[in-house]
Amino acid sequence: MAQVEQFAAPGSEWWRTAVIYQIYPRSFADASGDGIGDLPGITARLDDLHALGVDAIWLSPFMTSPQKDAGYDVADYRDVDPIFGTLADFDEMLAQAHARGIRVIVDLVPNHSSDQHVWFQQALKAAPGSPERARYIFRDGRGENGDLPPNNWESVFGGGQWTRTTNPDGTPGQWYLHIFDPTQPDFDWTNEEVREEFRSILRFWLDRGVDGFRVDVAHGMVKAEGLPDYTPPIEADSMGGGEENVPYWGQDGVHDIYRDWHKLLAEYDGDRALCGEAWLPTLAKTALWVRPGEMHQTFNFPYLMTAWDAEALRGVIRDSLDAFGGVGAPSTWVLSNHDVVRHASRLALTADNPQGEGIGPLSPGKPDQTIGLARGRAATTLMLALPGSSYLYQGEELGLPEAMEIPDEFRQDPTWFRTNGERYGRDGCRVPLPWSAEAPAYGFNTTGASWLPQPAEWAGFARDVEEADAESTLNLYKRLLAERRERGLGGGSLVWEDAGSDAVAFRRGDLHVVANLGETPIELGGNVSFVIQSQRFSGTALPPNTAAWFTRA
Ligand code: NOJ
Repeated sequence: MAQVEQFAAPGSEWWRTAVIYQIYPRSFADASGDGIGDLPGITARLDDLHALGVDAIWLSPFMTSPQKDAGYDVADYRDVDPIFGTLADFDEMLAQAHARGIRVIVDLVPNHSSDQHVWFQQALKAAPGSPERARYIFRDGRGENGDLPPNNWESVFGGGQWTRTTNPDGTPGQWYLHIFDPTQPDFDWTNEEVREEFRSILRFWLDRGVDGFRVDVAHGMVKAEGLPDYTPPIEADSMGGGEENVPYWGQDGVHDIYRDWHKLLAEYDGDRALCGEAWLPTLAKTALWVRPGEMHQTFNFPYLMTAWDAEALRGVIRDSLDAFGGVGAPSTWVLSNHDVVRHASRLALTADNPQGEGIGPLSPGKPDQTIGLARGRAATTLMLALPGSSYLYQGEELGLPEAMEIPDEFRQDPTWFRTNGERYGRDGCRVPLPWSAEAPAYGFNTTGASWLPQPAEWAGFARDVEEADAESTLNLYKRLLAERRERGLGGGSLVWEDAGSDAVAFRRGDLHVVANLGETPIELGGNVSFVIQSQRFSGTALPPNTAAWFTRA
């Protein structure tokens, strides 16, 4: 018996069904030629994104920053970092995107600022207990001389979460908390001044016309009262959230903040939206982030983390539709972003090398690229047929693999430094995009400079090469996005079908969708008329690592 999954769609807001393309500005397109992508580079490439067929773009941070964590360390929330351009460049990019019907979401980083933020600099100079220190989380150390950190929390990037300050007279001072790098001190969200400042920052960008915000570390802004000790299990997820009751993740207090922001956004026209980056242990908990009056969307990381396994994938899709549908929110779907191994490599990873470590020259069990790409294309073919909103990460439309051979001297991810090279971290998914096979830096710019080296084999993935090849990943994505739009697949409901234990199979109206995650072909039966195949095959037997959209006569 087919089981019908209802997709709750209380309204027709754009974000319920949108395909949102993540731009990582430093690696997208570089107009200035300094080797780091920029806002004018994005503007110059908007036609390519329009041709791809996405509804919106989300830009990772481009605000003023010392770039200790690639811009997730903001020193001025109301200005553009000179490496990316100016506010005028931002306004131009926004206007040009809107002129093409593309909405624009910007990244908001409210959990922490840069240590170069004026508030943190003031806090360092101010006395313990002062209003300047109360904007962050300063505490006295433990032990006789206060030389032990206030608790045992471990940083996501390795090492502890506390760094000790030095008093103006040179003596050791208080400690401050940072879930991430020491250059990223956490704000104290119990402080009304912090809340008011962020309301003002939201208004600053809303007034400029942005369509919404991706909220960084939306699960970490509030800490458990008293900052109790916590020792994570050995296999904790890198961005957190693998466990219940972590005193710095998923605390109930965060919901007040979202309710406040929801009201603020609702004062503006155009269905402005909040999408939370919340790494949480279960979908049921994740759905609390998108209850009515809170965030509009949240990333579906349980889906992203699901291995290439049919039963697991069927389960996470079902649970996602149930959990999000149960609170009247769309599910989101995502396979890649700037923090994880690109899915065209990740889906072929073996147990030797879990994705949280990154992949580098000395990693064991490097994924097979042919299998990875086939699975990556099949996974996206499946994802773009699901009801809800999907996120794409720049370069996945080219089928880019993870860059696995970056020499150590180029690495920039703080994870690499904080773990003394034990974890390669995220540089491998952040390498600048290839636009044209024959140009310097593959057309990323005209000078050939590139902040991370581009693998030689990326010439074969360049956009101009793929544009000319009907079977390329780029043309697959274009077909998927056009059909999805034409058939309104972002809304509506899903009917499960049975195509065997190795398959994920469902129907969307008269469109059948099947992915083969097993090792033998799956016969689809007669009267099949293919609409899209994730890779070309003849006959009606769906090969392993392949997905198809089809109708039956
Ligand atoms: C999540 C971001 O996606 C990641 O890139 C960053 O390092 C951390 N938050 C800290 O801001």
